[in-house]
Amino acid sequence: MSQLVVTGGQRLVGRVRAGGRKNSAVAVLPAAALLVDGPSVLDNVPDIQDVAVFCEILRAMGAGIEVRPANGSEPQRLVIRPGTGGDKAPPEALVKRLRASYYLLGVLLARCGRAEVPFPGGCDIGTRNIDQHIKGFTALGARVWVEHGVVKAEARRLVGAPVYLDVVSVGATINIMLAATLAEGTTIIENAAKEPHVVDLANYLNAAGARVKGAGTDTIKITGVERLAGADHALIPDEIEAATYMIAAAATGGDVTVENVIPKHLESVTAKLAETGATVEENGDSIRVVSADRPRPVTVKTLPYPGFPTDAQQPITSLLSVASGTSIITETIFEGRFRHVDELKRMGSRVTVEGRTAIVEGVDHLTGAEVTAPDLRGAAALVIAGLMARGETRIHEIEHLERGYERPVEKLTSLGAEVRLE
Ligand code: UD1
Repeated sequence: MSQLVVTGGQRLVGRVRAGGRKNSAVAVLPAAALLVDGPSVLDNVPDIQDVAVFCEILRAMGAGIEVRPANGSEPQRLVIRPGTGGDKAPPEALVKRLRASYYLLGVLLARCGRAEVPFPGGCDIGTRNIDQHIKGFTALGARVWVEHGVVKAEARRLVGAPVYLDVVSVGATINIMLAATLAEGTTIIENAAKEPHVVDLANYLNAAGARVKGAGTDTIKITGVERLAGADHALIPDEIEAATYMIAAAATGGDVTVENVIPKHLESVTAKLAETGATVEENGDSIRVVSADRPRPVTVKTLPYPGFPTDAQQPITSLLSVASGTSIITETIFEGRFRHVDELKRMGSRVTVEGRTAIVEGVDHLTGAEVTAPDLRGAAALVIAGLMARGETRIHEIEHLERGYERPVEKLTSLGAEVRLE
């Protein structure tokens, strides 16, 4: 396990490019590798661990994936030749390394009529049920059961049906959409997630010949087709990576322009940073955050898109740790997403967690300490705290960060941060 050593006190200044969206990549990849019949070229694919691990899983299942590494301003590109997947089990150790491996259920069920996928892994941020995924597959006519830690599903033929989601779930919306693309007839998902990566996947699938309508609204209609060809597709930018650099800019009294973003996808974060007193300027496909003063305290409540993203809750907790008053953060999506708080306390943060609420009393400054990254976005929160703190912060288990952030040391260093891996 490696450590990231951060020497605090540098203002972040300059321009940084956001990579492609992690949560789009991990949905489009299994579709391109196992659901469609023809080759696909995926552009703007983030160079992160979750993508590398998913590629390994898909290769083990018979897909051909050629990686064209990023080159200058050209982002990473993947050329994918699909396999059929049905006769090769996904390697359990790899499946457990990422949450998105649950999408194998949807694609295998659609393509092969059966799926066996070990329970997915990913961040430990509270109960992460898959009951809504199972509800959807069952509505489409599949039998789904769990045996020895493996989720198993089979269906002679999936048949489209209405599915009402009891909770707004990104994963269930995408998984049911994947399964329904090759089903007989029409599936209607009600109370669907509206996240832009749901739309991104729908755009890829439609380019490959699927008939998906309404993605981005809470009702998605999928009419099954006989087969899907491949498609060329560029992934949308990663709003959470962008949000993290925006928050880091505000936290260090910096001046950072994040390039390759869709500002509309970041409106909740932009609005919240403006409330803290930062100046946020949108300019085409870039956003500039400038801050000179101590942040003002704010109220944050995480919600499904277009609300404030749960993935940005941990990073903004670090910023609010030094606000000029008390902030209230309510986490409505994942009840266990406060594991970073104990680590922030080692650095002098004054945070009290009561159930789903964190009460953050702003302190004058943080001080560097030895801390341990609890999960992916918790790692990002600790990096931001380290940048703000006086002295040196040593973050253990920094591998969590590499799951979802592309070349973080290089990007942070280019903005003037003092960070090194040990
Ligand atoms: C996805 C994202 C993650 C993000 C989250 C919320 C991926 C790979 N991960 O996670 O980065 O933080 O969306 O935007 O895209 N739930 C159920 N039953 C289910 C499914 C979900 O009760 O079958 C609950 C969850 O416990 C949670 C809420 O619904 O409370 C939202 O979860 P969901 O949107 O499904 O998150 P993930 O797909 O796990």
